[in-house]
Amino acid sequence: MKVLVIGGGGREHALVWKIAQSPKVKKIYCAPGNAGISELAACLPIDAEDIDKLVEFGGKEKIDLTVVGPEGPLSKGIVDIFEEIGLKIFGASKKAAEIESSKSFAKTLMDTYGIPTAAGRTFTSYKKAEAYIKKMGAPIVVKADGLAAGKGVIVCSTEKEAIGALNQIMVKRAFGDAGNKVLVEECLTGEEASFLAFTDGKTVLPLPTSQDHKPVYDNDEGPNTGGMGAYSPAPVVDRYLHKRIMEEVMIPTVQAMASEGRPYRGVLYAGLMIDGDRIRVLEFNGRFGDPEAQPLLMRLKNDIVPIMEATIEGRLDKCRLEIDDRASICVVMASGGYPGAYRKGLTISGLADVRRMKDVVVFHAGTAAKDGNIVTSGGRVLGVT
Ligand code: AMP
Ligand code: GLY
Repeated sequence: MKVLVIGGGGREHALVWKIAQSPKVKKIYCAPGNAGISELAACLPIDAEDIDKLVEFGGKEKIDLTVVGPEGPLSKGIVDIFEEIGLKIFGASKKAAEIESSKSFAKTLMDTYGIPTAAGRTFTSYKKAEAYIKKMGAPIVVKADGLAAGKGVIVCSTEKEAIGALNQIMVKRAFGDAGNKVLVEECLTGEEASFLAFTDGKTVLPLPTSQDHKPVYDNDEGPNTGGMGAYSPAPVVDRYLHKRIMEEVMIPTVQAMASEGRPYRGVLYAGLMIDGDRIRVLEFNGRFGDPEAQPLLMRLKNDIVPIMEATIEGRLDKCRLEIDDRASICVVMASGGYPGAYRKGLTISGLADVRRMKDVVVFHAGTAAKDGNIVTSGGRVLGVT
């Protein structure tokens, strides 16, 4: 088989690493990839959101399976376009990916189908949102409706901060059109966990639980990032909660999407807040998490390719996941200054030493090859897993 992976971060390196282990796979391409990925796949100079070029490449090369990493191309409808020309692709359709790309859609879906989540309301009017914030008081959470690269959620401890956030999103338009609507919701407390599952629209096959850590510094301090590390399993999700998350969140959500005429195929990721025995959904993502994918894929023992094919073809009821009992952890190494401004082009040393370590894989995120060296090219650089 020829496989094309779309994206170029740590999650995509983990996907390429896992797919490369499949005896079914002869050749892997990755668009755009990174220096680590280029050891396993042919990297293409095509942006992950350049749908036209990706479709052209997929058709010309007769790619047998395309796997989409990030949310951008999913929300632009890459899956629908590939399927229209008969190319097999793993990921959520445009209408299904709205569960991530529109927080108001996800909130309405959860409210309609009784899926537990924070109480909240969506606004298109600044005045009405402001009045609601004043009525509800702080702490309160203000969210841009659309995709904002993980930065569109502002947890506010005062009313003033919340109105400032509203101003940033709706007036200053810090996230562009993603801020045409705003979601204002109750601030939840507890411990977060990520719950990811393969689903073909009928069967839900859960991956192990995981937990990601967003603040940049140790002890969960500093500003939020895309994720500084993740481990699996998440001890907060015991067997009892696991069963309830499947029954109260994952299965009802997949059924709700089917009822709404948006059959969900791919990976469904629920970001949960667990408070004692209360489970509430903070958000859904229509893809693997980054960095959750790194520890999760190291624990998955199956060949991932047949699982992805079964997801696409509606045969997940015939599949079982085999999981390594051992825990795994990914620690992200970021460039100084991230998530603010940081330097690029710094030489990375020590990678060869890690190759000799058992059960350790260094997944690359922002790396590039330059003059025989591997150099940094992004904020999150490596995921030591
Ligand atoms: P999201 O992108 O919706 O997952 O939000 C990013 C982060 O903001 C989450 O991982 C939580 O840490 C936090 N967050 C989102 N919604 C809430 C909420 N209703 N209450 C408290 N924290 C929240
Ligand atoms: N690690 C959080 C995310 O992928 O959205």
